[in-house]
Amino acid sequence: MSKITIGLIAATLLFVGCNNNANPSSNSGVGATVTEESLGLRKTDLYSEKSETQGDATHYSKSAAGSGYKIKRAFQDAPPMIPHDVEGMLPITINNNQCTGCHVPGVAESLGALPFPKSHMTNFRPKSIAISGANTSSANLKDISIKELSSLSGARFNCTQCHAPQSDSPAPKNTFEAAYVREDGASKSTWSGAKLMEGIDTIK
Ligand code: HEC
Ligand code: HEC
Repeated sequence: MSKITIGLIAATLLFVGCNNNANPSSNSGVGATVTEESLGLRKTDLYSEKSETQGDATHYSKSAAGSGYKIKRAFQDAPPMIPHDVEGMLPITINNNQCTGCHVPGVAESLGALPFPKSHMTNFRPKSIAISGANTSSANLKDISIKELSSLSGARFNCTQCHAPQSDSPAPKNTFEAAYVREDGASKSTWSGAKLMEGIDTIK
C-alpha cells in the first residue's frame, strides 16, 4: 500500500470516529451554522452597540481641584488617586502639563494641594556606562547612581502613568484593608529623601 492510501484510510477512520463521538445535542451536521454571537462572552449583536450590550456607566469625579475632596490611599505609599476633575488637563504633553503647575513644591501648598514628593525629584535611573561592551547598570550595584534633583525628574513627568482619576462605577466590592505603617498613611507618603537611599549601596 502506498503512503497516500494509508493516509486516506487513517483520515477516514478519524473522521468516522469523530462523528460517532459527536455530542448528539450539538448543532453539528450538514448545513449547521455557528453564529458569531455564540463564540464570545458577549451574547448580543456584534455590529451595533445597543443598550443591552453596554456595560454600567463609569462616572469620574466632577469635583473641581481645590474642593478638598480626597481619596484614601490603597496602601502605605501607594500613588494617590486623582480626586478632582481632570477635564481639559489630559493628555499631558511636553508643552502642556497643568499638573506640575499646581503640584510643584512652593505653589502647591498655597493651593491646598500636596506638592509632588521627594521621590519625584530623584533620578533612580541607573548610570549606564558600557565598559568593554558590557552594560554596567544591571550587574554592579556600585555603578548605579540615585541622584536627588532640584526639580521634577523626567521619569515622573507623565503623572497619569501612575496617578489615575477614580471613578464610581458599580464595580465589585473591594474588601482589601490597608495596614498603614503610619498613622497618616491613608493621606500622606512616608518617603523622604534620606529614606529613599536607605540601605542602598550606590553612588550618591
Ligand atoms: C488647579 C490646580 C490643580 C491642577 C491643575 C491639578 N491638581 Fe491635583 N490637586 C489639586 C488640589 C488643590 C488637590 C487637593 C484635593 C482638592 O482640593 O481637590 C489635588 C489633589 C491631587 C491628588 C491627590 C493627592 C492626595 O493628597 O491624595 C493627586 C494624585 C493629584 N492631585 C494629581 C494631579 C494630576 C495628575 C494632575 C494633572 C492631570 C493634577 N493633579 C492637576 C490641584 C490641582
Ligand atoms: C512612576 C510613577 C509616578 C509618576 C509618573 C508620578 N507619580 Fe506621584 N506618586 C507616585 C507614588 C508611588 C507616590 C507615593 C509614594 C511616594 O511618595 O513616592 C506618589 C505620590 C504623589 C503625591 C502625594 C505626595 C505626598 O506627600 O503624599 C502627589 C501629590 C503626586 N505624587 C503628584 C504627582 C504629579 C503631579 C505627577 C506628575 C508631574 C506625578 N505624581 C507623577 C508615583 C508616581
